Amino acid sequence: MSSTVQPLRFPVTRSCPFHPPQEYAQLRETDPISKVELPTGRTAWVVAKHDDVRRLLADPRVSSDRANPNFPLMLRQDPDTPRQQFRSLISMDPPEHTGHRRSVVNEFTVKRMRALRPRIQEIVDSHIDAMLAGPRPADLVQALSLPVPSLVICELLGVPYTDHDFFQSRTKVLVNRTTAPEERTRASRELRTFLDSLVTQKENEPTDDLVGRLVVKCRETGVADHEEIVGLATLLLVAGHETTANMISLSTVALLENPSQLTAVREDPTLLPQGVEELLRYFSIADQVTARVALEDIEIGGVRIRAGEGIIMLGLSANWDQNAFENPEKLDIRRGARHHVAFGYGPHQCLGQNLARIELEIVLETLFRRIPGLQLAAGVDELAFKTESAVYGVTELPVTW
Ligand code: HEM
Repeated sequence: MSSTVQPLRFPVTRSCPFHPPQEYAQLRETDPISKVELPTGRTAWVVAKHDDVRRLLADPRVSSDRANPNFPLMLRQDPDTPRQQFRSLISMDPPEHTGHRRSVVNEFTVKRMRALRPRIQEIVDSHIDAMLAGPRPADLVQALSLPVPSLVICELLGVPYTDHDFFQSRTKVLVNRTTAPEERTRASRELRTFLDSLVTQKENEPTDDLVGRLVVKCRETGVADHEEIVGLATLLLVAGHETTANMISLSTVALLENPSQLTAVREDPTLLPQGVEELLRYFSIADQVTARVALEDIEIGGVRIRAGEGIIMLGLSANWDQNAFENPEKLDIRRGARHHVAFGYGPHQCLGQNLARIELEIVLETLFRRIPGLQLAAGVDELAFKTESAVYGVTELPVTW
């Protein structure tokens, strides 16, 4: 490691809506594994290169346990935060993680997700119908990006969609980095209470949906108890709509701003699956979600990470590493590169990735086919990008046609 006198303060923000923070290229060049200072005042390692990020994410000597006092949280926690808040799949280590993941992974196979296609198409079409019937300009976030993944995840889980205002507002609080710790705890508690009563209902009267099936399965196998099912349902609900919603909006902006790429997918929609992979790589919206704490000393890239130190894998930096992707700054929907880490890597790799891909493909194909004259109703420089959020996106997207 080169001698950095003052550790870089983290997080750093994107300098332009489409590009990573400038510091990332610098880190890859001079200090690919370096110490930074977090808003909590603690220090942690950040890892900037694609190779190192993948290696560490697959390393059994790192832990995802967010209740570990050394876990590199970006935010100060409310001291009253109950430990159970952290009890969910994303926070577990093997072998506990392995058993829990196995109990739910079948719900997200490519085959199962493909079977959802007709229903997702219906949801997308009805929202586009409503948008076209409404006034111009419309806000694409409210009209399409947010309701589509929200409805899909609700139907999948068996959560009443009528409650979406409630859980969307709480999720927003949870992913915003500027939220006060007490407010986060409250939002998280409220979400859990909501899902707690839902799981209880399904325990009393199992339904044929993901949570209902999980309740029955866990009763037979004993893999997860009530609290753990609540934790998993909360995680799926939160992770299942905010992320995809942001990708829908950002992908729309990126394609409208790159007309030749848009024309290519319009003329040949079979390019869309590759296009979606590229958009996922290009934006890497969950840049710093892949954080860990070292359980043992780890030697990597000429650096020794000591047991108990926090590590943050910079997914966005890894996905713009020119050793892994030629001309990474170029949005190239024909790139066909699937080794990006936008969904993470290793045992915790995104459980909902097949769902997210299908949703993105259907939304983008339908949107640009049905509204050939779609255009932004504001300049890109006027859009409010979510630079303070753990998941990048845009808060509003005025469009017209
Ligand atoms: C474009 C959309 C999405 C992106 C960019 C994304 C990104 C990620 C990333 C980077 C991770 C790894 C976290 C880690 O290693 O610590 C992850 C894990 C996870 N994601 Fe996603 N995600 C997306 C959509 C979804 C959807 C739609 C769902 C649910 C249906 C979902 C559910 C999960 C779950 C449950 C985990 C934890 C898996 C585990 O710990 O084993 N995600 N996601």
